[in-house]
Order: sequence, then structure tokens, then C-alpha cells
Amino acid sequence: MVAHVFPALAALASAAGFGPVLRPVGPSFRIRDERPRDVEAREALLDRGFGPARFTKTSERLREGRLPAEGLSFVAVRGGAIVGTLRFWPVEAGRHASLMLGPLAVEGACRSAGIGRALVEHGLKRARKLGHGSVMLVGDAPYYARFGFAAAPVAKLNLPGPVDPARFLGLELVVGALGDASGRVVGTGQLLERRRNEPLRLAA
Ligand SMILES: CC(C)(COP(=O)(O)OP(=O)(O)OC[C@H]1O[C@@H](n2cnc3c(N)ncnc32)[C@H](O)[C@@H]1OP(=O)(O)O)[C@@H](O)C(=O)NCCC(=O)NCCS
Repeated sequence: MVAHVFPALAALASAAGFGPVLRPVGPSFRIRDERPRDVEAREALLDRGFGPARFTKTSERLREGRLPAEGLSFVAVRGGAIVGTLRFWPVEAGRHASLMLGPLAVEGACRSAGIGRALVEHGLKRARKLGHGSVMLVGDAPYYARFGFAAAPVAKLNLPGPVDPARFLGLELVVGALGDASGRVVGTGQLLERRRNEPLRLAA
């Protein structure tokens, strides 16, 4: 607690060899809604996290040219810098309205500090509050299983592109929200306005 309130004192103590005693506890980051001025820092973070391949992902087919779900874009901020990002996108999954989670990325130097978990938990809580019934994603099951994501709820659904079935996961926020959903998942986010001579802005 002392170290959390007085980080300088903690740094001093650490330098003097008292690090383990006064190690900072509690989160030194916060999650907030994404703002328009975050775009540049967020884009750079995603480029570092995923590289150019980020635009070739199957999930991107559900996002490109569209806006993310209202009230469901978040950033993690640490020391004034954006160190994490998470968005959700409206989709229709075999006639069931749902959300697609992603991309989720945390700055390399800030990983394993609970920022990814905090972003996902915050996002799921907000999604529930906004009345959404389910969420799906393409990602590593060993990471997302801790939030309750599993392959079973989306087993009969398919995405507009190739995906390893073990990485296509779903979570019902409301029991039965995905029901026996089957068929193609399509993006339903509001279309971005395209100005003349301007290339279609990639979403991610
Ligand atoms: C995945 C990612 C967002 C996790 O962020 P984070 O802030 O480090 O996450 P947390 O602190 O909540 O959790 C870290 C734990 O998850 C584990 N973890 C991270 N990525 C994992 C993965 N792909 N599969 C399984 N476990 C994973 C870490 O080993 C760590 O374990 P530990 O707590 O035992 O040390 C981050 O590693 C990242 O940005 N990766 C690059 C982009 C990416 O792959 N995004 C996900 C796309 S689906």
C-alpha cells in the first residue's frame, strides 16, 4: 500500500535493497473508455503486438469498414501511456446478435501484470451491463478459458475465412443466448463513412 501511494519511496527502498518489502501492490494501471485521440498510440501498440499480419486475420473480415460496438472500446493506461487495448464488435451469429472480442493487446514490457485480464473482465462486465448476451473471439484457448470461453458454444458457427476450430471460442453472458446458433457469423457494425479518394480505413 505504502509503495502504491508513494512510488518514489518504493524506488528508493528498492535501490537500498528493501525491494521485496516495499514492492508495489495493486494495479498501477487503469482501464478507461477509448477516446478518439488514442488512435495513434493504439495503432502503434497493435502494430508492435501483431505486425502487419493483423489485417489479414479472419476476424478482421468482421471489422473492416465498420465501427466497433458502442461503449465497448477500452484502453489501459499506465504512467500516462496507452499500454493495452481491447475492442468488441457487433456481429450476427446464425441469427443471434453477438459480439466479437478483439483485438486484445498489451505492451510487451507491461505483460503478466494483469492488464490483459483487467481489460477482458472490464469489457465483459460492460457488455453484460449493456445487455449483450454473448461474446465470441478467435484466440488461444489456454488464455481465454480463464474467462469462461470455450469452443462448444460456437461449434456450429463459421467465420468468413479460415480459422483453427480450437481457437474459435464463445461465451454466453446470458444462459442460452447462443442457443443452437449455427451458420455464418457476419459483421453488423455501423459502416464507416468513406470519403472520396480515401482508401477504406482498416478497422482492427
Ligand atoms: C495475450 C496478452 C493480451 C496478455 O496480456 P497480459 O497483460 O500479459 O495478460 P495477463 O497479465 O492478464 O495474463 C498473463 C498470463 O497469461 C499468460 N498468457 C499470455 N498469453 C497467453 C497465451 N497466448 N496462451 C496462454 N497463456 C497466455 C501469461 O503466460 C501469463 O501467465 P502468468 O500469470 O502465469 O504469468 C498479451 O500477451 C499480448 O498482447 N500478446 C500479443 C497480442 C496477442 O496475442 N493478443 C491476443 C490475441 S487473441
